[in-house]
Amino acid sequence: MIRPDGVFMDGRSGAVPKANEHYSKPVAELRGLYHDGAAFDDFLRESPHAIGYEVAGYRQPGSDIFFGTTTMYPGKIGDEYFMTRGHYHVRDDCGEAYYTQSGTGLLLLQTREGETSEVEMGPGVCAFIPPGWAHRSVNTGSNPLVFAWFCQTTAGHDYGDIVTRGMRRLAVERDGHPTIVSNPAF
Ligand code: F6R
Ligand code: ZN
Repeated sequence: MIRPDGVFMDGRSGAVPKANEHYSKPVAELRGLYHDGAAFDDFLRESPHAIGYEVAGYRQPGSDIFFGTTTMYPGKIGDEYFMTRGHYHVRDDCGEAYYTQSGTGLLLLQTREGETSEVEMGPGVCAFIPPGWAHRSVNTGSNPLVFAWFCQTTAGHDYGDIVTRGMRRLAVERDGHPTIVSNPAF
């Protein structure tokens, strides 16, 4: 029998003391994600060990759901804000919820059929990610963006399509403001 639990998730730092899964994603591992390759190389020369984001997860063996936090650090590569890799779920019937606890950002979404959408991320907003929609979060602010996510354990992550093609739309800074533009390379 799986036992119930109460799991504290710090809305400022993203720390989850009871998490049993963690990883940090160095910016250096995100080559090819950003549209400005020269800016990426410049950034890495200056900050070779920079961390883009960290993920902490709480999972009970045998459970159908798991959850945790993603903590995204602020920054830009050229004019493009720090972002997660972005993925589809392998299972087309699994959605997800992203509940923003602190910071500001944008959630970029798209379907395999070519539809796109964006949801603003800010404290108290819970983004509903329907089944079939790829999702990538972007930190458009100057503080960490912390959100809690809730997902099915068997959803699976399909990064391949986005690694090879990118996403249809990009979040860039224009005149000091976050702006969504079409990805010329898609
Ligand atoms: C799980 C989920 C999040 C992300 C995390 C990092 O389905 O959507 O936990 O995995 O925010 O983003 P990716 O995995 O796209 O690098
Ligand atoms: Zn997901």
